[in-house]
Amino acid sequence: MPEPPELAVHATDLHKTYKSPGGDVPAVRGIGLAVPPGEFFGLLGPNGAGKSTTIGMLTTLVRPTSGAASVWGHDVVGDSTEVKRRIGMVSQNNTLDSDLDAFENLEFRGRYFGLGARDARRRADELLELFGLTDRRKGNPFEMSGGQAKRLMIARALVHRPDVLFLDEPTAGLDPQNRVNLWDLLRGLQKEGQTILLTTHYMEEAEVLCDRIAVVDHGRVLAQGTVPELTATAGADTVVTVTYEGAPPAGLRERLDGRDGVGKVEVTDGQVRVFAREADGLLGELVAAGAGSGAVVTDASQIRPSLETVFLSLTGREYRD
Ligand SMILES: Nc1ncnc2c1ncn2[C@@H]1O[C@H](COP(=O)(O)OP(=O)(O)O)[C@@H](O)[C@H]1O
Ligand SMILES: [Mg+2]
Repeated sequence: MPEPPELAVHATDLHKTYKSPGGDVPAVRGIGLAVPPGEFFGLLGPNGAGKSTTIGMLTTLVRPTSGAASVWGHDVVGDSTEVKRRIGMVSQNNTLDSDLDAFENLEFRGRYFGLGARDARRRADELLELFGLTDRRKGNPFEMSGGQAKRLMIARALVHRPDVLFLDEPTAGLDPQNRVNLWDLLRGLQKEGQTILLTTHYMEEAEVLCDRIAVVDHGRVLAQGTVPELTATAGADTVVTVTYEGAPPAGLRERLDGRDGVGKVEVTDGQVRVFAREADGLLGELVAAGAGSGAVVTDASQIRPSLETVFLSLTGREYRD
């Protein structure tokens, strides 16, 4: 076995601008990533953030407008054939072949990647077994449940033992039970040494699965790191939000600004949002201030440090998936 490269995936200043009749769409605006072999890496961001475009460029399906990327040391543009050989890609939609049964979908992929007839069949059966699909061996991929079809797609992506497995929103649309099952499966693959890069708009998914996460929005990486790193550097704060009917009580900002443990204070039309390191009593105080000044509190929440507060603090927007 040759030594693995220093980085499994390396992207620097990747850009993609789509030309469309309505004008240019700057989908990716300077993304950099460095994923070492063996890592489980996640691109987390809301709908339209540029995740699919980014994974498309890394898997040679989308041509970068500028910037560079390599997978397992091979340039995605200059050496795309080699990249294709070294990766497995699981796209969001069902791209299985409906003219073939489950087994044949795997067998044909094996043949495509140069396995002999016997090896291709053996590998297909091995993967069906590994992914709990042996009893669906002769099933049509479009008559399977969403979870089964997704497992078959992952199996197909692994036929040729790729160095890096890419998955675009692997659990979007799956029910919670299937989602958790798939998480177990992916974790198992990583334990066996598989390098994995996935995109997701589910914070929980990124948090549960990924060693490191890049939070992306509007085609840029807002922050990158482990969950503790992200919560510590990007938004270590508890976020307390109180919404009032009409204007928030006067003087709140003055009262809170500069107080120990209190970070950013945002006062908008009917809302006060406080990023605090020490949030004890703060929520009660904001609610009481409303009552004291006759401002009716219509909503109040406190979010603990999490990817949610990271996103809030970086974008000023609530994360909606
Ligand atoms: N083929 C395309 N042509 C034009 N615009 C596109 C195309 N694909 C994606 N976009 C736009 O690029 C932006 C990023 O899309 P995408 O990469 O699919 O984001 P995500 O996967 O995070 O939802 C969106 O505004 C989307 O509408
Ligand atoms: Mg997408």
